[in-house]
Amino acid sequence: MQDARDLVESDIGTEQLVEPYKIKMVEPIRLPSAERRRAAIREAGYNTFLLQSEDVFIDLLTDSGTSAMSEDQWAGLMLGDEAYAGSKNFKHLEQAVRDVLGYRYVVPTHQGRGAEHLLARVLVRPGQIVPRNMYFTTSRAHVELAGGTMVDVIADEAHDPTNRHPFKGNVDLAKLDRVIAEHGRDRIAFVNVELDVNMAGGQPVSLQNLRAVAEFLKPHGIPIVLDATRSSENAYFIREREDGQVGRDIQAILRDLCACSVACAYSAKKDCLVNIGGFIATNDERIYEGCRSLVVVYEGLHTYGGMAGRDMEAVARGLREGTDPDYLRARISQVRYLGQRLLRAGVPIVEPVGGHAVFLDAVRFLPHIPREQFPAQALAAALYEVSGVRAMERGAVSKGRDKVTGENVFPKLELVRLTIPRRVYTQSHMDFVADAVVRCYQNRDNIRGLRMVYEPPALRFFQARFEPI
Ligand code: F0G
Repeated sequence: MQDARDLVESDIGTEQLVEPYKIKMVEPIRLPSAERRRAAIREAGYNTFLLQSEDVFIDLLTDSGTSAMSEDQWAGLMLGDEAYAGSKNFKHLEQAVRDVLGYRYVVPTHQGRGAEHLLARVLVRPGQIVPRNMYFTTSRAHVELAGGTMVDVIADEAHDPTNRHPFKGNVDLAKLDRVIAEHGRDRIAFVNVELDVNMAGGQPVSLQNLRAVAEFLKPHGIPIVLDATRSSENAYFIREREDGQVGRDIQAILRDLCACSVACAYSAKKDCLVNIGGFIATNDERIYEGCRSLVVVYEGLHTYGGMAGRDMEAVARGLREGTDPDYLRARISQVRYLGQRLLRAGVPIVEPVGGHAVFLDAVRFLPHIPREQFPAQALAAALYEVSGVRAMERGAVSKGRDKVTGENVFPKLELVRLTIPRRVYTQSHMDFVADAVVRCYQNRDNIRGLRMVYEPPALRFFQARFEPI
């Protein structure tokens, strides 16, 4: 297996970084004054989700819905068939999913959480358990709303930001075995595997691991449902570093991954290079029937599911485009370039650098701030204040409270995510971000902890407010 350490440490050449596209249209951005930034973050309650986009210079809040579409996708928008039923764009989407992922049935939804909602309603009964390599906020929320509990079964390496295992998203089979033994087969709704684990730092799952999970579950009759949101980026890592997979066709790898599962939930807002959209895909008629009858209640008719026809066209084209190995090479290299610049300046980040983001390790960055004072939240606010760069907390605020005790949970990973939108920023933007983070690191002793002064009941990270201590 290719050592992930080599990949991070070796120089990234221009042949790796060079983008296989040029810029046709530009969107102006402006750095607000230091005074405005100080006021803006205060007005936002020290929560970067509550900043106004106009106050942001470089927006690394998320890679979700923030991609630049291609000329082919924009051209596709003009071919929107906005018929209420039987839109031809749905047919194109269905065909793209069949070709790229290999699933037969597609149920469109307005975005990923719409797909998660329907799948949880169809597959989860109250009291059931959903083991997943690592939770994602909305995925867990929908399982809980259906009366279930999500349990993490990711490999231990994922919890250690300095461990450079090449597939830190892998499922730990021993943990999975224990969960099944503890609760009994009948209480397991399905096993959920996220490809490229967002909360672990954009870390991939190997094809070998996913196949081993499928083999292991077969005698129990427990199905795998994928969160295929960043599956193309995961497939790129497999192509780059897995024994026997090096250089393989991305779509062939994707079909092999999907073949291990009965269904997937897919947020098209990431690897499909669009601003909105999502879908459920499956080969299982029962799951298809279940989702198809619910989609009309919650999203829209089963041939649009909350998307405009033109949006489905952009998703269909983007799903194919996003598997181009040349595009993926430039994409992954840009993220790695930022990570490498930070590592070389001694900034603590999650290694190896993952697919969609560079994650700052706030515990090592700000050792003087106790976990109860939300160091990652404080770091994200400080980074904005010094540079106008917007990042996102991915630690205790995102994790939320224990369902039973109501206490704050402090996950091992307390991170700030610098999420790189696809095809949007240039290398000099990455240099600007790296310089800003290094400046924060050099002045880290001046960064203070935060106290939460407003906490919404669900998905609190979106709207919580804080004050400096
Ligand atoms: N699954 C994963 C792994 C995600 O990262 C997301 C969204 C979803 C599901 C939900 O999809 O937003 O289309 O409803 N992640 C975004 C992020 C919000 O910033 O990481 P959605």
